[in-house]
Amino acid sequence: MNDFPIRFNDPAFDYHVLHQEIDAAVQQELARGDYIRGAAVGRFEAAFAEKMGARCAVGVASGTDALHLALRAAGIGPGDEVITAPNTFTATAMAIVHAGARPVLADVDETLTLDPARLAVAIGPRTRAVIPVHLYGLPAAMDEILALTRPRGLVVIEDACQAHGARDRGRAAGTLGNAGAFSFYPTKNLGAVGDGGMVLTDDEALAQAIRALASYGGPHRDEHERVGFNSRLDSLQAAVLSVKLGWLAVWNQARARNAEIYRKILASAPGLRLPPQPAGRESVYHQFVIRVPAPMRDPLRQRLLKQGVPTMIHYPTPIHLQPAFAGLGYSAGSFPVAEAAAAEIISLPIAQHLTWSQIEDVAKTVLGEFNRLSC
Ligand SMILES: Cc1ncc(COP(=O)(O)O)c(C=O)c1O
Repeated sequence: MNDFPIRFNDPAFDYHVLHQEIDAAVQQELARGDYIRGAAVGRFEAAFAEKMGARCAVGVASGTDALHLALRAAGIGPGDEVITAPNTFTATAMAIVHAGARPVLADVDETLTLDPARLAVAIGPRTRAVIPVHLYGLPAAMDEILALTRPRGLVVIEDACQAHGARDRGRAAGTLGNAGAFSFYPTKNLGAVGDGGMVLTDDEALAQAIRALASYGGPHRDEHERVGFNSRLDSLQAAVLSVKLGWLAVWNQARARNAEIYRKILASAPGLRLPPQPAGRESVYHQFVIRVPAPMRDPLRQRLLKQGVPTMIHYPTPIHLQPAFAGLGYSAGSFPVAEAAAAEIISLPIAQHLTWSQIEDVAKTVLGEFNRLSC
């Protein structure tokens, strides 16, 4: 293996590359003093909206809040059902509960994103919204999903928290539904130096409602139309994110290159499944997730760790089997595709801090250990 250790994540890598620009941007904001909703936030909102191709952007405190506030602003609340996937990060389902609605789950297909056929079956009389999750950076099947939701007047909030810059037939993930929610958690493809989030939408009234909800119900300092929250992106985070936004495409390319190396080396292993590449849907590889037979998964991870290769599981327990969601009434067996995946998936290190030769070494180690375990 390499002389220097492989780290699964290295959130400070971007800072080390860009420290002069980031230091200057942060110092400027420290001196300006408009720390909350300052000019830097407006600039970043405009730059992010332009890069993604959306009309409006609203900075909020986290990806979870981006989902929650977008749902509320769209009028989703008690008595409503919101459909999402069972294999997402827990925050997606929690945002639905925060809005006062009930999460309803529909299983995923082999891409591990929402299966349109199962979504069609899950839509019922109380369904008001759908949250497709662009999991691991791969856009969900948006055309098929929108073909189901539009005729029924359902709201679509895309969970693009893992998909900054991902494209579906050339269109940016997060700009295809009524709104798209992004997280700037430090390990995301575009990461802040703390928490942060953003909603993109072409609907100006929706953007205004989210902006009001995120600041005590707005619209102005001493005028509060409704009960709101304190959920704002701050100027320091926005200043750092503005610098890093200029590098998003470069770092997404580095992830794509790393994914290609993995694909080439691991293609020769029968029984090891690589991430699907559905036509027209371009992943930004927030994670590179392989699948191996369930009994081999944990032994393989242990062997890899011994060889200096850290791995993760995104996510070991589907939403419906988490204690927090026991009240939804699902049980083991409710979502067989998501449950099978949870037992088989391994996330390999993929981010931009890793060199070509490190990825080659990881891929060869995975291949070697997988073949040894298969014998
Ligand atoms: C798919 C998904 N949805 C929602 C979130 C929530 O984002 P945040 O951690 O910024 O609240 C995350 C991030 O962790 C995520 O990966």
